[in-house]
Amino acid sequence: MRILGIETSADETGVAVIEASGEGEKDFQYKVLGNALLSQADLHTRYGGIFPNLAKREHGRNLVPVLMEALRQGNELHEGQASADEKKIEELEALLTREHELFTYLSEFLRAYGKPAIDCIAVTAGPGLEPALWVGINFAKALADVWQVPLVAVNHLEGHIIVARAKNGSLAPIDKPSIALLVSGGHTELVLIKEWHKYETIGATRDDAAGEAFDKSARLIGLPYPGGPEISKLANAAREANLARGAELPRPMIKDKSFDFSFAGLKTAVKKIVDGWTTHTDDLKSALAREAEEAIVDVLLAKTKRAVEEYGTKTVIVGGGVSANDYLRKRFAEEFQNGPHILFPSPEFATDNAVMIALAGYFRAEKKEFIGAAELRANGNLKLAN
Ligand code: KG4
Ligand code: ZN
Repeated sequence: MRILGIETSADETGVAVIEASGEGEKDFQYKVLGNALLSQADLHTRYGGIFPNLAKREHGRNLVPVLMEALRQGNELHEGQASADEKKIEELEALLTREHELFTYLSEFLRAYGKPAIDCIAVTAGPGLEPALWVGINFAKALADVWQVPLVAVNHLEGHIIVARAKNGSLAPIDKPSIALLVSGGHTELVLIKEWHKYETIGATRDDAAGEAFDKSARLIGLPYPGGPEISKLANAAREANLARGAELPRPMIKDKSFDFSFAGLKTAVKKIVDGWTTHTDDLKSALAREAEEAIVDVLLAKTKRAVEEYGTKTVIVGGGVSANDYLRKRFAEEFQNGPHILFPSPEFATDNAVMIALAGYFRAEKKEFIGAAELRANGNLKLAN
């Protein structure tokens, strides 16, 4: 089965095509045929975070070129055989009234290119920024209508979990229950994977997400958005140069018995330190970046360890943008070198992408869990199913 995946939940516009086979997770095999991604991070830099209406506008502009790139990679961009006649295109205009730019690009595309060999369209339905999600959803509905293929709605978080298991064209086996630590710009959750597709969230952040803590600390230190990779760079340099630690930051809720997190206090503490600086030297910034990174990772690791002990799990999956962090990977690998088995996504698939949506979509499509266009809606707070 060939799945076209679409991701627009935050500031990455992603389209991917995968070919996959197998029933459920056991004999699953996949191949990425096309994978295109356009990041808007540079545009959001000046806001220090994602600006929802700007994200919506950019997805509208970028989706068609990104789709064309993914299809081109998969040798499925068929020029000279229109996908739709003028009557159909007129119908689409009604569906895309709120996405005028997208409609303009899409109608040109549909007049010039034929249907690719795909069997299903998988699109992120949530969680995420609703204005951004809607663009991808309406795009998916329009394509599904024109090409007469079914739709599946994908939970973005399930995408992060599944892509962390995707290795060498198949899915790394996991013991059940296993623990997933989801750490992204919008989420910090500990999830118990009880069975295939059955999740229980055992802890979550009460305020800022881990990625947000990276982004906000970075902004206070004077580093551009997204802050995670910037903090990571400076922190690595500080450790290598053996810089004096300087300031000390709190490890919020590290001793708390619950599996919840709270990172909002961290940015307040970072702010206090930065406000006290009389000079802003590179060494001061690097030392503080290191302390912020280590504070966040200390808490994530301590809570994950406790969850592993409490639930006796033999597998830990770490997913979401923050799972790209080198230091986090190193600390988790050291801590769990004698088990449980730990799975990270390959670095290129740690942050948002459409391959993860196509992968998660396959398992829904394979069970014929399709969704009608009228039922498919964006849900900014979509939870992992239980
Ligand atoms: O999963 P993701 O791409 O988007 C959401 O679903 O939110 O995660 C983005 C988050 C951002 O907060 C970004 O700063 C963080 O992941 N991030 C990192 C690193 N790369 C991305 N955080 C720490 N270290 C990194 N190397
Ligand atoms: Zn994400």
